[in-house]
Amino acid sequence: MTKAPQKSLEARYYTDPAIFAAENAGLLARTWQFACHVSALARPGDYTSFEIAGESLFAIRGRDGVIRAFYNVCQHRAHQLVKGSGHTRVVVCPYHAWSYELTGQLRAGPNLNVVEGLDKSQICLAKVACEEFLGFLFVNLDPDARPMDTWFGDARRELAEWVPNWAALKPLEWVEIPENCNWKVSVENYSECYHCGLNHPTFATGVIKPETYDIQPQGHCLRHTTECQNLAQMTYDIQSGFAHQNEYSSWYLWPMFSFQVYPGNILNTYHWRAIDADHVVVWRGWYSVDGQESETLRGLAVQDRQTTVAEDITLVESVQRGLKSRGYRPGPLVLDPQCGVNSEHSVKVLQDWMRQAVDTPPL
Ligand code: FES
Ligand SMILES: [Fe+2]
Repeated sequence: MTKAPQKSLEARYYTDPAIFAAENAGLLARTWQFACHVSALARPGDYTSFEIAGESLFAIRGRDGVIRAFYNVCQHRAHQLVKGSGHTRVVVCPYHAWSYELTGQLRAGPNLNVVEGLDKSQICLAKVACEEFLGFLFVNLDPDARPMDTWFGDARRELAEWVPNWAALKPLEWVEIPENCNWKVSVENYSECYHCGLNHPTFATGVIKPETYDIQPQGHCLRHTTECQNLAQMTYDIQSGFAHQNEYSSWYLWPMFSFQVYPGNILNTYHWRAIDADHVVVWRGWYSVDGQESETLRGLAVQDRQTTVAEDITLVESVQRGLKSRGYRPGPLVLDPQCGVNSEHSVKVLQDWMRQAVDTPPL
């Protein structure tokens, strides 16, 4: 008996606000989420706030050099503690001036000595798990989160090989790309190259060799590999002197972040921020040594924005409209046992994770 083809995910996963709410409460609250680049927290006392899964959080570097992340809420009567980014000696709540050490420990508060039975050592800001990953800070709202290396296989070790100067890098440019589609439509589109030949002429003929393109899971990381072509015709000098300078590679970390390395060991990143069921903003990050000005990087960011990114926006927005059509029934995925560029095996892996995140949340 022949097996029925594996079908793509039902449209409601991409359109139903209730599913989006379930992802916010579940998936986003128990996966590793990008917070900031650690160069924003260079000195003890530097802090930056950010939002994940509807929660306001902040990260701050302690006097011991350790970066800690906390819920951005005072343990007195719940006022927000910090806004934006900055530098401070202690964290002082703007409501009644309770102050906290950089470790989150309550330090002092006006008239606190009149409170009988108050043990200041028992009051501490609520901590959030955080990890530095090659200069990128990630947080996980799950207090039992497994470490990133358990989630993402060899990604850290491989990336350190592809970007040997990662510790010296700082963000140079962030390009913000709003897309009128569900975040999963954008992530799926990123995670297959079945559409590349037809839709990305610059990428498919100028950078990669499509016949060698493949995407394979390594834990919850999807690893893109390809041989490159026309390196001599590249629009910039790729002679970095590092190993892998002739290669293109990418590491997508489930669910909303991806590291890419372009020929010449050029690091760039994708960060998806889901707004609602129909909207996502993609942040493209470009990095240089010490954040130094670089014509090459600025040029690449512009070229990328005008070609691959622009081409993808048209695709994902059309898909989102189609998912809302009464005329759409999920179609079969093209799963080639040999994998390769014309296969959607990576989309199947993603959709399994997506389904699982909504339908079978852990106890
Ligand atoms: S709520 Fe922060 S000091 Fe009162
Ligand atoms: Fe694309």
